[in-house]
This record gives sequence, structure tokens and C-alpha cells, in this order.
Amino acid sequence: MFKKETYKQRRALLKKALGSGVYLFLGNDELSLNYADSTFRYRQDSSFLYFFGLSFAGLSAIIDVDEDKEIIFGNELTIDDIVWMGVQPTLKEKSEMVGVTHTEPTVDLGTYLARAQKQGREIHYLPPYRPEHQLKLMDLLGIKPAAQKASYKFMEAICNQRIYKSDEELAEIDKACNVTAQMHIAAMKMLRPGMKEYEVVAEMEAVAARNNYELSFATIATINGQTLHNHYHGNTAKSGQLFLIDAGCETEMGYAGDMSSTVPVDKTFTARQKAVYDIQNRMHLESVKALKPGVSYESVYDLSASVMVDGLKDLGLMKGNTEDAVREGAHAMFYPHGLGHMMGLDVHDMENFGEELVGYAGGKKSTQFGRKSLRLARELEPGFVFTIEPGIYFIPDLIDLWRGQNKFMDFINYDVLETYKDFGGIRNEEDYVITKDGARRMGSLYVPLTTEEVEAIR
Ligand code: GLY
Ligand code: MN
Repeated sequence: MFKKETYKQRRALLKKALGSGVYLFLGNDELSLNYADSTFRYRQDSSFLYFFGLSFAGLSAIIDVDEDKEIIFGNELTIDDIVWMGVQPTLKEKSEMVGVTHTEPTVDLGTYLARAQKQGREIHYLPPYRPEHQLKLMDLLGIKPAAQKASYKFMEAICNQRIYKSDEELAEIDKACNVTAQMHIAAMKMLRPGMKEYEVVAEMEAVAARNNYELSFATIATINGQTLHNHYHGNTAKSGQLFLIDAGCETEMGYAGDMSSTVPVDKTFTARQKAVYDIQNRMHLESVKALKPGVSYESVYDLSASVMVDGLKDLGLMKGNTEDAVREGAHAMFYPHGLGHMMGLDVHDMENFGEELVGYAGGKKSTQFGRKSLRLARELEPGFVFTIEPGIYFIPDLIDLWRGQNKFMDFINYDVLETYKDFGGIRNEEDYVITKDGARRMGSLYVPLTTEEVEAIR
């Protein structure tokens, strides 16, 4: 936890931005897996963590700007809780750690909100991304889940704070990135033909566990890298294949790292793998070179797509005018996702507020296949932390679909593409912060990125 002044300052800034109203923060509870007492690993809500710092189940908080009150609601542990789960600080002690002096039992939250509603005051809440939040809102405010409408003003004010990472947050993200880098380096060193994907997963997750860090998202470690979010780990890695890893961890305070690597299952790349990898590597390096304040992230995405189209034209996979191909969306055959996303207390930071608020500064997203998957497009500002993760994939079902529709015949050489259906996918990913005049890679550990560097570590 940061020192209490950090949380006090964050709440003071938020109150100033909000001006008036009652703001409800629902912390996360334990979530059952297959029966009540068997739970998923506990994760506190990130906005609750940001403003109230406490990673304990069963808490809620209110910031009542009109009455200038900050209250944490929760229950003291029963003797049964203590016998089974151990002791915890009292509610008062927990609240004092983050500079909140007023606490109330959970049962009084409903009374407080009912009184505010009676006074004609609006209760602002955040998007309920868990069923438990929907049930609580129904119980507390009498609004059925389908009618629950998060407060845009509330989300916007929080986003405008959380989006700029402070020095102490950057130090946490650096820590997450260093352990994330160690996870990747361990995997890159150990993978050999004949290994199961899950053996690599076990090695990476052990690195996180040895640092007392949790995963920041479900690990991807697969010979089927053409499936963007592939969470199956049961295949055997075979000579001649590529192996794609997308994995990261979060610090004890919840700050995330997120990196991707692609390595040959053999110690060296084949000539065909190297040719495609080198294009992906150019997409990555050119994108990083373009990062600085004032640049729109969508323009960096366009740059990465153009670099790819030029490279794939050299390989005979694409043809035609590069700019037209990218504008019309033909590149999405090979690169159907965005260039990256914000990162912080969530690996896709604040994605529960919606991609358009966080990634587009409230602007509209494209509906075009590929471009619609940009999670980040807005102008970059100092303090923004985000990923750079271009990719090149050969997705047999997409190839068959578009070929059957005669789609983008002016830009895609389908006869050549047919011969790549067994290729898989390549993605590499690093994390960056925008500085006063450029960008800095997060963490001090470098993960091999070029084919030469990858082969040297294998
Ligand atoms: N690391 C997974 C993703 O960025 O979607
Ligand atoms: Mn990512």
C-alpha cells in the first residue's frame, strides 16, 4: 500500500473534479468457483484500490461531496471468520491506513443511500462488471440489472486521474515489468521440442509466484499463436513450429505488466519464420520510434500496419497500394487487433469504463474489422502507460472466409497465402510510458526481441 497521503490526495482531487453528488465505490467480494467456500483468487476492484487502497473483501465506500464525507462500510470479522481465515485489522484500523476516519457497518450503507435518494440527490456508481455488483445495486438502489446505468461523469473523472501515472505508480509498474520480463526469459530459455505447453506455463508462473506476485491475466503460451487469446495449454511443441507467449504478473498492490514473445520451438528460426518475424520486428521498432507526446496512437497503429503491408508485399503475400490497403482494412487479414492498450491497475487499464472513454478520449470507434479492435487510439500524453504489441497471424478460417467472398483481391495474394496456413502467429509486446519528450520502456530488464537476440537465448 502507498502511504495514506497518496489516497487522501487522490480523493481530494476527485472531489474537486466532481463538484457535487454522492459517489458509491463497490469493493469486490470473494467469488465462488464451484461451491461457496471454494473461491477464485481474491482481486479487489481497481478503482477501489486506487482511491481506498484496501485489498480486503466485503468493503464499500462513499464519497459524499455535498456533505464532505468519506465513509468506508464493512463488517468486523466474526470469531468463525478468524478461526478459518485468520485475524485482520479492524475496520477502523484498515480505514486509518488510507486516511479515512469515518466507518460504518455494511448494513448502514443502504440506509445512507436511501436517505440521499429521499433528499433527491443522485447516487453515482461505476459499471457493475460482476453479478455481485449488479445484485448489490439492485438491493441498495432498487434498480434491476438491465436498468443499471453507470455514471459517465464519475467514470470520466476517475479516468482523468488514473490515466496519468505518478512516479510511485511508475515504480510499481517497473517492478511488475521486471518480473514479467523474467517470466518471458525463463520460458524462452527452457522451451524444447517435445515439451507440453503447460510445462512452459508452469515455469513462467513459478517466476511470478517466487516474487509473491499474481498473474495480471490468464497466460497464453501456445503453438497456435494465430488464435489471439488462446488459453489452452495441452499441446506438444514440435520442431518447425513457432511458440507464442503472452503473459504478465501484477505486484502485491495490483499494478500490471504485460509482455509477449514469440520463439521458434527449435533453437533457430526457419528462413520463412525469420522473414515474417523480421517484418513484425520492424512494425514494433518503428512504432516505438514514433512514441512521444501529442502523437495519436491510431497514427502509430497506421504506421505499424503500413510497415507490415510493405513487408508482406516483398514476400508476395500482399500487393497494391499500401495506404489504400490499410485504409480499406485489407491488412486486418494478418493483423486483426490493435497496437496496444492502456496498462496500470488493470492490465487493460479501466476497460470496465469502456474502450471509447479510456482509449478514444470519448470519441467513436471504427466498425471496420481489425480497426474496431483498437483499444487505444487517442493522442498520447506524458504519464500514459500502455503496451506496444503488433502481430502477424495466418488464420486459416479467416483466409477461407475472405477468399470465398473474393474480399480484397486487389491487395491479397491468396495463392501464396494458402501455403502459409500452417504458419501460426507472431506477436511481441513491451510496455511504455510517455515522458516529457518521448517514451521510456517500462522495467529495466530487456526481453530478446530481434531474431538474433532470440536465437542467442535459445
Ligand atoms: N495480454 C493480453 C492482451 O493484451 O489482450
Ligand atoms: Mn497486451
